[in-house]
Amino acid sequence: MRKFWVITGLVLAAVISSCDGPRRNPGRAYMPDMAYSRAYETYAETEERLKNSSAEGTVRFTGKPVDGTVARGDMMHYELKNDSTGYAQSALVKNPLNAADIDMKEAERLYLINCGICHGTKLDGMGPLFNNGNGPYVAKPATLVGDPTIEKLSEGTIYHVQTYGKNAMGSYASQMTSKQRWMVAAFIKSKQGGAKPDSAGAAKPDSATVAQPVAQTGN
Ligand code: HEC
Repeated sequence: MRKFWVITGLVLAAVISSCDGPRRNPGRAYMPDMAYSRAYETYAETEERLKNSSAEGTVRFTGKPVDGTVARGDMMHYELKNDSTGYAQSALVKNPLNAADIDMKEAERLYLINCGICHGTKLDGMGPLFNNGNGPYVAKPATLVGDPTIEKLSEGTIYHVQTYGKNAMGSYASQMTSKQRWMVAAFIKSKQGGAKPDSAGAAKPDSATVAQPVAQTGN
């Protein structure tokens, strides 16, 4: 019985002493990193990012997938190199997607998300980023519709340029899958005035080195 009163007394004392008004001290944090992880800021400039960017201060992400790797479910590795020979040979690379199977609405959506900011919603090179020289982007994006030189580019070359970028334009290989890049290439072609791709003038590729991308088997 005595034990009962002792325990009851202790409990009451504990309850009463815990009601002594608001506490200002949050107490000690034990190993705070386990409760609150250190935030990694997505766009924070890391040393590595700075080293990889071609010019300090540019907000251009040029990271490409590791050479020779294929993302799961993506098409086969694109063999042509990022040099003038690869660019010339790209004229002859055929779109591995079946024209009838391409969802043009989706292709247009991809174009507007990834390219419209520079090349414009009307593909006239007047996107808001360039804005006829008044925007923050100083290089004039190619006029994809209406410029005979650009209209002559084959879907293969449009794909090549998206894969590796060209001069002031960055690579889109890590933002878009191969399939998406081929879809956008077909979309751009469908908007152009039906000019024939200039494959006659392009360097004759050695058939062994020009690998046709193999159509997707997954998905
Ligand atoms: C940040 C702006 C920017 C974005 C976004 C952009 N481009 Fe470009 N693009 C350019 C510039 C600038 C050029 C001109 C490059 C040159 O010839 O010097 C260009 C050129 C091109 C050309 C012509 C290439 C040639 O051989 O002359 C094609 C085709 C093209 N872009 C397609 C695309 C597609 C498709 C996308 C979306 C996946 C895209 N671009 C996104 C800026 C951009």
